[in-house]
Amino acid sequence: MALRIQRRVRGPPAGRPERWLNWVVRQRTTHRVIGTLQATVRADRRRASVAYLFAPQYWGRGYAAESLTAILAALRDQYGISEFEARVDARNDRSIRLLERLGFESVRTVPHAEYLSGAWGDEHVFRLRAGGPVARGERPATTRGRRTPRLRPPAAHGV
Ligand SMILES: CC(C)(COP(=O)(O)OP(=O)(O)OC[C@H]1O[C@@H](n2cnc3c(N)ncnc32)[C@H](O)[C@@H]1OP(=O)(O)O)[C@@H](O)C(=O)NCCC(=O)NCCS
Repeated sequence: MALRIQRRVRGPPAGRPERWLNWVVRQRTTHRVIGTLQATVRADRRRASVAYLFAPQYWGRGYAAESLTAILAALRDQYGISEFEARVDARNDRSIRLLERLGFESVRTVPHAEYLSGAWGDEHVFRLRAGGPVARGERPATTRGRRTPRLRPPAAHGV
């Protein structure tokens, strides 16, 4: 895990025209680290890929939806991103529910793309255009009534 984080923070290999952004999510009341989110922004800034990981004991409380909503807004407002992408194992129901709640749509499926828990599985490619539900400022149902968290500038590396 530590190695993976070190690699992310170092940023993309030299010559790769993209920028890696990393966020850490802390629970407001306890300040505990409960999850991380990443975005890869292409040099042309037309699209950003997003990924996220939360500790299992904090699942089912809407934290991922709240955090992802905030970083999509930051990517749109601070980087001018017009399209977001996320790749999810077809067996990952929670992640699929999260993306669909935020307005992402599955645009294609890559067969046998990921080896997980001893078996190959398909991977769905989800996209959301800025100007879609989240970009228009409509809160997903799960985060309605919550304050959008204030974000510190992410650790940014690359172009
Ligand atoms: C994918 C992942 C982030 C989803 O986490 P999650 O906690 O299920 O997602 P959310 O924050 O959207 O929480 C939604 C759930 O919280 C519930 N909830 C409870 N209180 C809530 C509140 N106050 N506000 C919003 N939702 C709330 C919702 O009803 C929903 O429940 P449901 O899943 O039974 O429908 C998490 O499972 C994870 O980290 N997995 C491992 C990493 C991974 O798979 N990443 C994806 C590949 S990039």
